[in-house]
Amino acid sequence: MTGASSGIGEASSRLLAQAGYRVVLVARSKEKLAAVCSDLNDRGLEAHFEAGDLSTGEVTQAIMSRIEHLLGVPNVLIHAAGAGAWKFIEETTPDEARRMMDAPYFCAFNVTQFWMPHFLKRGSGRILFVGSPASLSPWPGATGYVAARYALRGLNEALYQDLAGTGVTTTHVVFGKVSSGYFQHNPGSEARIPKANQLSRTIPPEECARVIERLIDHPKREYCYPALIRWFFRFPALARWVGRETGFRH
Ligand SMILES: NC(=O)c1ccc[n+]([C@@H]2O[C@H](COP(=O)([O-])OP(=O)(O)OC[C@H]3O[C@@H](n4cnc5c(N)ncnc54)[C@H](OP(=O)(O)O)[C@@H]3O)[C@@H](O)[C@H]2O)c1
Repeated sequence: MTGASSGIGEASSRLLAQAGYRVVLVARSKEKLAAVCSDLNDRGLEAHFEAGDLSTGEVTQAIMSRIEHLLGVPNVLIHAAGAGAWKFIEETTPDEARRMMDAPYFCAFNVTQFWMPHFLKRGSGRILFVGSPASLSPWPGATGYVAARYALRGLNEALYQDLAGTGVTTTHVVFGKVSSGYFQHNPGSEARIPKANQLSRTIPPEECARVIERLIDHPKREYCYPALIRWFFRFPALARWVGRETGFRH
């Protein structure tokens, strides 16, 4: 589980450990991971953690090799690592734009790239990418964020084609607004949520975790939650118009 120190990744790690999965929590903040892990271990649940920046190929290789040595090849990969403040392109430096691609896109790419040969050899594996409605229809004032979420969705689409008939499945799960720490971790972003989003309720991370648990057992190529989001994005021209008209302006 990447992004396991906070929000959707933390809640999913907790729920899956409770459900009997052996979970490995990965993110950069060692102290936060250690705290979640020891809480789970104290309750008799199996959880391990590895701290590091997954956007670096070498760091990812080292972390995943340690996991392989300790526990073998995982059955499920959940990619919930993500960051990036919502800004127009003229507010974004090239370095910031690269960091927005790092998490989620390169973190997800690097981890998946490491395990794919093992999954293909075994003929099984479940991969889940946690994505954003920005990957379905953009809104103004979040250029680098939107591009990075399209990249993540593109990775899922490409893998879906690559993996046909292999026994390995891939899912892009799209959540509406979640009451995680995301907007505190990426200041200035919350004020740019399009006003139309007020029509959809905010979801607690624990509810996202239950959706993720269901998708492990019943994989789909793409799944949007809650239902209003699922319905709304069936009308791409309407979604684009609403995003633009109710979104943040210069
Ligand atoms: N919150 C929402 O409303 C919402 C809605 C739909 C989709 N999403 C998407 O869901 C994903 C997770 O969001 P969240 O709400 O759970 O946010 P969050 O609470 O801020 O969690 C983000 C997680 O990603 C980890 N992370 C960031 N960069 C990393 C890196 N380079 N390497 C390893 N781990 C890294 C963070 O841990 P460290 O800082 O310890 O590394 C943290 O555990 C994001 O991509 C977000 O866009 C969020």
